[in-house]
Amino acid sequence: MVKYNPETYWSRVGQEIEKRGGQNFIAGDDNPYYRYKRLKFLKIFLDTIDFQAKVILEVGFGPGGNLRHIATHHNPTILLGADISQKMYDIATRNLRSFSNIQLTKIDGMHLPFEDQSVDTSLTVTVLQHITDEAMLKRLVQEICRATRATITIMEDIGKSHQLAGEGAGINRTVDIYKNIFAEQGFQLRQLQFLNTKISRWWFEFSWRVYRRLFSRQHHEGDQIGAIGKLLIGLPIAITRFLDDLFVEDQNLAKMVFDRKTDRLQVAGAATAVSTNYNTINTQGVPLSPFLPARCVSAGQVRTHAELEVIQNATATVDTNLAFKAR
Ligand SMILES: C[S@@+](CC[C@H](N)C(=O)[O-])C[C@H]1O[C@@H](n2cnc3c(N)ncnc32)[C@H](O)[C@@H]1O
Repeated sequence: MVKYNPETYWSRVGQEIEKRGGQNFIAGDDNPYYRYKRLKFLKIFLDTIDFQAKVILEVGFGPGGNLRHIATHHNPTILLGADISQKMYDIATRNLRSFSNIQLTKIDGMHLPFEDQSVDTSLTVTVLQHITDEAMLKRLVQEICRATRATITIMEDIGKSHQLAGEGAGINRTVDIYKNIFAEQGFQLRQLQFLNTKISRWWFEFSWRVYRRLFSRQHHEGDQIGAIGKLLIGLPIAITRFLDDLFVEDQNLAKMVFDRKTDRLQVAGAATAVSTNYNTINTQGVPLSPFLPARCVSAGQVRTHAELEVIQNATATVDTNLAFKAR
């Protein structure tokens, strides 16, 4: 197997993206399944991150679609981007030239040109899952954590591999692997959410195998596909997209939100928590059981990290508004 070299691999994908013409933001293969997945990703994952008035960094920006979406819809202060591929840098520079608050750098994410904690929020989207070299992955995560003050959101494919390292251009690791490497850098997993595209993906994987066998045996990631392939993959998605929301999964694309561990955290939302022995804590943070004073939280309270960890660990279900932000 050829060793994965991110720069040559993604510059080749970039050449295929250029052939499509127009402003194409699908970073790999452009087919109806990935288009559907991207729209769902924008709505459920990207649009639910707080970018307002923040300094944002995307490592591995590809053709620039995520930065463009954030700049257009979320009013950030500055958007920084770092990508190892010259071709992706060129495409993104073209796609984003009308935005004065976006600054792109062609650089390996293992050496980010930013001061410690100079970025409010960082993100990666399908970047870490392609890094199969253990040292490279650790160094990249270390750099992102060093540059980020508060929150890192990674949106990566999740699978069953318990390994840091892999072969080729992709590895679907477990959530725990990511949780542990970020924990080593002082970041704690706060939120985990799956995109849920299982039924559409089943159909896509079946139809894609059929299409490749019949029409495109030499396909490389990013190559264009014909009209028959688009129809074969695309038509059933009109139905399978509704089934995806019914058959939830714990695999494939996930959003993982990490917070820098700090000692003083403020509770951002009103919280309704149910402790492990099912005593309810009301929205003002008053425990209905007098035996659980440490487990109540309410909006605006400031607690230490250790206290909040006790609350989180003791909590069986937590209202979705329960969120903590660094003071
Ligand atoms: C699958 S693409 C994703 C692009 C973009 N995040 C998106 O969602 O459209 C992966 C991108 O990560 C970049 N990349 C891979 N390894 C990198 C590294 N070590 N440092 C910076 N960028 C890297 C590639 O050049 C490529 O543009």
